[in-house]
Amino acid sequence: MHTGIRTIYWENNTVVMIDQKALPGEEKLLSCRHYTEVITAIKDLTIRGAPAIGVAAAMGIALGALSLSPASPEAFKKSFSEICEQFAGSRPTARNLFWAIERMQRCFQSALSAKRFVPGEIQQALIGEATRICEEDIAVNRKIGFNGSSLIRDGDTILTHCNAGALATAGYGTALGVIRAAVAEGNNIHVFVDETRPVLQGARLTAWELLKENIPHTLITDNMAGFLMKQGRISKVIVGADRIAANGDAANKIGTYSLAVLAGEHGIPFYVAAPLSTIDMTIRSGDEIPIEERNGAEITVIRGARMAPEGVAVYNPAFDVTPHRYITAIITEAGIITSPFQERLEEIFRATS
Ligand code: MRU
Repeated sequence: MHTGIRTIYWENNTVVMIDQKALPGEEKLLSCRHYTEVITAIKDLTIRGAPAIGVAAAMGIALGALSLSPASPEAFKKSFSEICEQFAGSRPTARNLFWAIERMQRCFQSALSAKRFVPGEIQQALIGEATRICEEDIAVNRKIGFNGSSLIRDGDTILTHCNAGALATAGYGTALGVIRAAVAEGNNIHVFVDETRPVLQGARLTAWELLKENIPHTLITDNMAGFLMKQGRISKVIVGADRIAANGDAANKIGTYSLAVLAGEHGIPFYVAAPLSTIDMTIRSGDEIPIEERNGAEITVIRGARMAPEGVAVYNPAFDVTPHRYITAIITEAGIITSPFQERLEEIFRATS
């Protein structure tokens, strides 16, 4: 049974999610009854974080299928594909989004190829698959946490960036999952939380999660990390990922690359914690990962207050890519992967396919 933060769940043919835009000021839920509301929630960051986006898309697709009353298998297939395409266009970088859509498409195909055409049965199969994706995500995160906690030592001071916690997943988290597991095993850990401009996922969300669980932490601004490392105050860096290429290059929230370079300079281990569903073996290197560019207003306006003059030119890439040479290890549910990443990843995918 899962008792912690539930980021998203299916209830009475409704997708219910924590409204992350409202945090930390307000703790409220958003209930989506129509699939387009789920697409909007993904686009406007009501729900965010690669695995959580994947779960939201799976549930949103099930919701979309439920709204259809198709007269024929062909008509069902056409409308279902259109819904999937709309989800695929919601955000470009997180591999988990496309992974979840592909799983829903496979489920649809196999339900559709049953002898009788009963739309209600196909819809139920899709709801079942979406809720399975959600439950599996929590179990996978616990495994990542268990595997990763073997790298953590009592007294570690760990820097993390963005939010790779329960809120970025169906629950428990990836990078924060490792921290949660290490704390549960009795280690005294102090977490340094990068505020993570422009949208402040660290300050708003990671700090909220750590406070809830009484895990000791200190909030810093993104530009302070190098100073702390130089002072010897960071023993490890652990971050999540949005997409990992076959060679181990990892895309994560903008600012991650700078941290990895700084960690390398200071001889600090740099870990990426992510499920296998974040790994894209069709992409050879990080150069091929599509990087989302978001609205400049995320930089110029914070909660209605203008931070820069009207009309200023803004560039707002949401992610950057850390080359694998800066990554000490990738922590997955299948184990801890170290260099040579490409060979190790190929082995794991061969064994799991
Ligand atoms: O733009 P966001 O908030 O969706 O970006 C999220 C991140 O970059 C996370 O670090 C990543 O998705 C890993 S979450 C387990």
